[in-house]
Amino acid sequence: MSFDDIIDDVETYLKYIKEEGTSVLEVERSTLDAMGRVPVNDENMKTVVEEISKCTKCSLSETRKNTVPGQGNPSPEILFIGEAPGADEDAQGLAFVGRAGQLLAKMIEAMGFTRDEVFIANILKCRPPENRKPSPDEMSVCISYLKRQIALLKPKVIVALGSTAVHGLVESDLKISELRGNWTEFEGIKLMPTFHPSYLLRNPPGAKKKVWEDLQEVLRHLGRKAPAK
Ligand code: URA
Repeated sequence: MSFDDIIDDVETYLKYIKEEGTSVLEVERSTLDAMGRVPVNDENMKTVVEEISKCTKCSLSETRKNTVPGQGNPSPEILFIGEAPGADEDAQGLAFVGRAGQLLAKMIEAMGFTRDEVFIANILKCRPPENRKPSPDEMSVCISYLKRQIALLKPKVIVALGSTAVHGLVESDLKISELRGNWTEFEGIKLMPTFHPSYLLRNPPGAKKKVWEDLQEVLRHLGRKAPAK
């Protein structure tokens, strides 16, 4: 029996039981999970985002205007992760919407994606005052939200932008300049460390070229090519 015949038979059977009055189907949770239909524990992005919006686990909740959970495609090929929201992100509740975000959008477009086709998030969900670096305590209380999001998003590749993003997810003493361009993994998901767009905005010699090489390696892994300019 061919695969198409099996699909036809299943379809005929489902139509038949529907006509006979069946309106609810019992399906094993593991089957639904394998189909990517529901998370194993009924968690979904909305519940995570709601929890983030009410979070008071650290003092950043006292100074934030908005939480910034991250946004984009709920089943992305690529998840970009930055450090923490800045002033623009805090004002709008959206990740990477300021100057660094505009550069990130250009990088995403050069790869042949739109912002909406990928997911963009940060290690921290709230802005540190004066855009200071996140403290280890802030990172350790906040990271569980991102980890839960990653479990839901199931991206094919994570691009970690800058040292905080990599060190938030991967145990390493190496600097971003040593880590970048070399694949590592987060919970079985390929992770490519590269420089943060804010660093690129300072125009360090050769850094843009290196980031582009890293992003092209990501495309190679996905079996894609950057569109011609
Ligand atoms: N820098 C980040 O790391 N994240 C943002 O969302 C904006 C700037």
